[in-house]
Amino acid sequence: MIGGGLMGSGIVEVNARAGIDVTLVEVSPEAVKAAEARVTSSLDRALGRGKLSQEDYDSTLERIRFTDDLEQLADRQLVVEAASEREDIKLDLFRRLGQILTDDQAILASNTSSIPIVKLGAVSGRADRVMGVHFFNPAPVMKLVELIPSLTSSPETLERMRGYVTDGLGKDPIEATDRAGFVVNSLLVPYLLSAIRMYEAGYASAADIDQGMVLGCGHPMGPLALSDLIGLDTVRAIGISMYDEFKEPLYSPPPLLDRMVDAGLLGKKSGHGFYPYG
Ligand code: CAA
Repeated sequence: MIGGGLMGSGIVEVNARAGIDVTLVEVSPEAVKAAEARVTSSLDRALGRGKLSQEDYDSTLERIRFTDDLEQLADRQLVVEAASEREDIKLDLFRRLGQILTDDQAILASNTSSIPIVKLGAVSGRADRVMGVHFFNPAPVMKLVELIPSLTSSPETLERMRGYVTDGLGKDPIEATDRAGFVVNSLLVPYLLSAIRMYEAGYASAADIDQGMVLGCGHPMGPLALSDLIGLDTVRAIGISMYDEFKEPLYSPPPLLDRMVDAGLLGKKSGHGFYPYG
């Protein structure tokens, strides 16, 4: 696993709880500590709610190694990358991983929401064994995983990843083509951006917009609270990638979202977004 942020730490937890041996790589000793704290606090919560026994808690943690050394991934059969949603960072990682992995059959997968998988495959030197595997937040709860083969992924890579998601993790996959947004974000992101535009234009308060969709449409949470959960920087980055690809105005982030991200109001992870978090 590469990246122990919001998504990476959740994906690591899902794998380790499913009995899979995981090495989590972060960029610095400080980031390693933060990732370890994130995974541990989520497991503490599961233990506290009686959803995990002490024995399973201990064995889950034993299955995870935390490191800031990318070379530690050399012997892995599968690498899932969930680094920052920036193309330059991901291209650099896939270039380096293509050289580091010693198992010729190893698969390199990205949890990107919107960056073309085919580009990551091209720089890796193993384009047939590269594809997208997109988890949803919170990863331990959400059942869906999008599988995204690129033009150059082999059918065998797709089938191995399908087996990993279903038999390995017990999640439900859908298959999408390698276009920015895939299935879920193509539908979700314009909706979230429309809610932000609505709030920006003064249609209604944040609480009322959210209440409208929770009570009126039966959503588990409203669009502004969901944007806070995903991270406003991530919502913005996905919108930009989708706009770059399709030039569809509804995908373009509204000025309020730009300003909030510039101000460091990133949602739940920074303690403040459309709502404050304690
Ligand atoms: N980690 C682990 N478990 C968690 C969790 C987390 N971060 N957050 C909630 N849970 C678990 C709780 O333990 C609880 O489990 P039990 O019922 O078995 O005890 C269950 O989820 C419900 O949690 P809560 O009662 O605390 O809160 P809730 O009922 O309000 O549910 C929620 C919280 C699961 C987040 C729910 O509001 C929800 O489903 N929201 C929508 C989330 C969503 O749409 N995610 C997709 C985002 S898009 C994306 O991720 C893709 C992208 O690229 C942007």
